[in-house]
Amino acid sequence: MRTGRSGSWMAALAALAVGAACGDAREVSDGGGSNAGDLTPSPGAQASFEQQIHPLLQGKCGACHGSAWGSSDVNASYQAALGEVNTASPAQSPLYVRPTGGSGHAKVLSDAEAQLVLEWIQQGANGPTTPTTPTTPTTPTVSFSTQVHPFLVASCGGCHGSAWGSNDTAISYAAALQKVDTANPTQSALYVRGTGGSGHAKRLSDADAQTLLTWIQEGAKND
Ligand code: HEC
Ligand code: HEC
Repeated sequence: MRTGRSGSWMAALAALAVGAACGDAREVSDGGGSNAGDLTPSPGAQASFEQQIHPLLQGKCGACHGSAWGSSDVNASYQAALGEVNTASPAQSPLYVRPTGGSGHAKVLSDAEAQLVLEWIQQGANGPTTPTTPTTPTTPTVSFSTQVHPFLVASCGGCHGSAWGSNDTAISYAAALQKVDTANPTQSALYVRGTGGSGHAKRLSDADAQTLLTWIQEGAKND
């Protein structure tokens, strides 16, 4: 089993390496030599995304994830990193699990570097202190109870009445939450299926689908 996994892993790496070589000629530092920023976790101190985490992600992940958290753009890096953190269970964040060798990923962070990433997540995964552009809306514009719930009942209730189609807002919300992916809103099962994907009949009007997507993009909050 392990052999099979690492075989496809190596193939993926090889493909990526080729892609990187053919694409933008980013300088790839090998052997973990880039020690940008202060990587020494100091107890009680706030880990700085700008000063510590971003240089680390760029240096250690940029060769393969340069369009995501490895981006040289601090805001783009932060937005992508946020999609891979779980502040409720920091040690289960893909951003921490994967580069420490979990889920079949190569171990690319030293223990000290991994510890720093973990602390940053534990402290709330705060963003750059001086963002040049606000990238996420601060207050949701779509209300679950008054906008999303009504069409889930009307359009889905006939068949999913004990789940997201329930008249009970709390039951509906809890079920809906299981079918959304706030890191990849357009891949949320609720949105994909409701708009006719994965073999499901299209049940949402275009306007309702857009409202649903915006609600997911805004964090799928209850109100
Ligand atoms: C040598 C290339 C390489 C480097 C360096 C690398 N990764 Fe990856 N990473 C991959 C590949 C290939 C995948 C996709 C295959 C997989 O899912 O295992 C991946 C997947 C991931 C995923 C899952 C992404 C998803 O959308 O499901 C996360 C999270 C991740 N890497 C984090 C990191 C972090 C954080 C770093 C730097 C500290 C890093 N990786 C460095 C190659 C790399
Ligand atoms: C006429 C009946 C019907 C209506 C109305 C309906 N669905 Fe479904 N839906 C099904 C059936 C049957 C399945 C299971 C078969 C399948 O997976 O395609 C299903 C499956 C799903 C699934 C996957 C189930 C899972 O547990 O992952 C999602 C998500 C979903 N529907 C979303 C919706 C949404 C959102 C709406 C309303 C906008 C909706 N459906 C309206 C019949 C319906």
